Amino acid sequence: MKIKGEKMEIRWLGHSAFEIKTKNKILLLDPALKINPNSSCKPKDIKKADYILISHGHYDHLGDSIELAKKTKAKIIAIVELAVYCQGKGVKDAAMLNICSPMDFQGIKIGLVPAAHSGGIGLEDGKAVYSGNPVGFIIQSEGKTVYFAGDTGLCADLKMIGEVYKPDIAMLPISGSFTMDPKEAAIAASWIKPKVVIPMHYNSLPSLPKVNVNELIKGVKKRSPKTRCIILKPGDMYRC
Ligand code: NI
Ligand code: MN
Repeated sequence: MKIKGEKMEIRWLGHSAFEIKTKNKILLLDPALKINPNSSCKPKDIKKADYILISHGHYDHLGDSIELAKKTKAKIIAIVELAVYCQGKGVKDAAMLNICSPMDFQGIKIGLVPAAHSGGIGLEDGKAVYSGNPVGFIIQSEGKTVYFAGDTGLCADLKMIGEVYKPDIAMLPISGSFTMDPKEAAIAASWIKPKVVIPMHYNSLPSLPKVNVNELIKGVKKRSPKTRCIILKPGDMYRC
């Protein structure tokens, strides 16, 4: 039975990969499943998707997006350079967005927001391939606003994101290598002021240092007592 007010299902697949169900559509965010030993599923387990949102070209975010877009016929949503790259790899349907210009996708509003990070795919034929600015996503549907930060360090743009988009839910990276650590994510939460923070990008890849998620919980409790931390295990779902 659906509880009143629950119109979005957010499932963590592990690392920065999420599946969001809203308005009978399935959104995949940064589906990098093969490379993560703690993923709750593998690409072969994903049978259906309508949109695939990719924050940047790093392997742990672009991941299995191209393979999944071909299999499910989902539309890729990414910054121009990354969307063009995916088309070059044979993806038929890609929406090319740019920063802070949300667009409507069948009643779901999706926009890119800045991330303090970098964007590149690596070497192909001996040449470095650039994938455009790294971004986070704002997803607005059924009166809820979700902010998915992608990979970002602490930066003043997070204050802008809080002020302009007023997210209800914020998925924040906390691994501390390449992104914010738990203490910095607690500062970010105090700027963004969401109702709920869901940590991601931690204790997943062997290359990342182990972090204690309790540091985030403590930091958020101290700085933003009105914000709740929801700690998911890979495969867990949060309904809102
Ligand atoms: Ni990255
Ligand atoms: Mn990453």
